[in-house]
Amino acid sequence: MLSVVIVTESEFPMSFDPTHFRQVLGQYPTGVVVVTALDAEGAALGMTVGSFTSVSLDPPLVAFLPDQGSRSWRALRESGHRFCINVLDASQEDVCRAVAVRKQDKFADIAWRPAPSGLPVIEGAVAWMDCVTEQVHEAGDHHIVVGRVNDLQLGEGTQPLLFFRGGYGSFTPLSLAAGGSDLLDHLRRIDLVRDQIESLAARFDTEVTAIVRVRDELVLAAAVGRTELAVAPTRVGQRLPFLPPLGSCFAAWGDAALQRAWTDAVAGQVGEEFAESVRCTPELVRRRGFAIAVGHQLGEHLEAITIRVNEGDPQLPGSALREAMWHAADGYNPDEITGPAELRLLTAPVFDAAGGVAFTLTLWGAPGLLEPEEIAERVEALRATTSQASASLARSTAGCPQSAAG
Ligand SMILES: Cc1cc2nc3c(=O)[nH]c(=O)nc-3n(C[C@H](O)[C@H](O)[C@H](O)COP(=O)(O)O)c2cc1C
Repeated sequence: MLSVVIVTESEFPMSFDPTHFRQVLGQYPTGVVVVTALDAEGAALGMTVGSFTSVSLDPPLVAFLPDQGSRSWRALRESGHRFCINVLDASQEDVCRAVAVRKQDKFADIAWRPAPSGLPVIEGAVAWMDCVTEQVHEAGDHHIVVGRVNDLQLGEGTQPLLFFRGGYGSFTPLSLAAGGSDLLDHLRRIDLVRDQIESLAARFDTEVTAIVRVRDELVLAAAVGRTELAVAPTRVGQRLPFLPPLGSCFAAWGDAALQRAWTDAVAGQVGEEFAESVRCTPELVRRRGFAIAVGHQLGEHLEAITIRVNEGDPQLPGSALREAMWHAADGYNPDEITGPAELRLLTAPVFDAAGGVAFTLTLWGAPGLLEPEEIAERVEALRATTSQASASLARSTAGCPQSAAG
């Protein structure tokens, strides 16, 4: 049985001022939604809300908490018993502000379309939920509005807008790690050197990804920072076959059998010139100490196909991934770079205590062209990080505390 304890104000008088309350509560980040409805004339009306939450799966319930004194909330209530929750995208701060101000025609500059029920769905939102009001509870100076979800869809947006300490931002997968039981040991090792990976990503204001090899697959196990080059908002968890041109560092520092498995994988499937360049790649990468890929278009195409493969897109022909990989191979490990180049990525190995490749770190490039000196600076920083990380892994296996070992 549910028991309810009612605490009176005289028992617990407020011992802090509202500013302090707001400041402390502001440490908790929220997403931002716009609750929409239609007025009697069929015009859109709405309210910006951070206090949205999902409540129950069965029945499907969500809730938000409007200020009892809010005019927007009054207008929503007067419009009837239906409302639509629109989860704003990080690019929609202007929509958030336009709806949050006290004015008549808030939607004058906001593009929206009707949901099947007719309620306004804001163009570009990350998701929307069409609801019927189930309950309105009193809670201090606010109401708790519980809505039953009738219909819901993902929208065009991909990155939700976040509100934190009075400011706006978006979600950065600072230290995201993939799930999956086959990754646990790998993730433990990546975690040991996470600070080093974070410093590298911050220095070049880009993304650094850690890739592991699990049998015949490469798995993007963790990512730090963010790059404008990424096609997907987060790539953590993506899996790709361990085939040329991908994973050349694993082949380069792997044993003879692994190297052969990698180079032979293309035999008979591609032209002799390509097969020959694949045969030479492990030696080239090992001599250089890193792998490199150039050409944004080639890389974007491969990533777009990868996303579809990982999402299990049934429309994608079975051969599409291999074709995209062979196609992208043109940009991987060119013999030399003499002029400005579109740097897609640089990858170098991190070794475990036994000298095997524990995982690789990929430093993502930058949009447009980079001068050879800029690429060299990145290579040097990546290699310094991977050496430092390898040393940390060796120390941790030997049981030395990292601080004592310097
Ligand atoms: C990011 C953000 C989150 C907000 N969250 C809430 C909320 O959860 N509940 C609420 O009553 N007002 C919230 N507001 C304030 C309302 O959107 C709106 O600004 C306020 O209600 C304006 O007063 P009016 O409704 O009387 O016009 C939020 C505003 C912003 C910018």
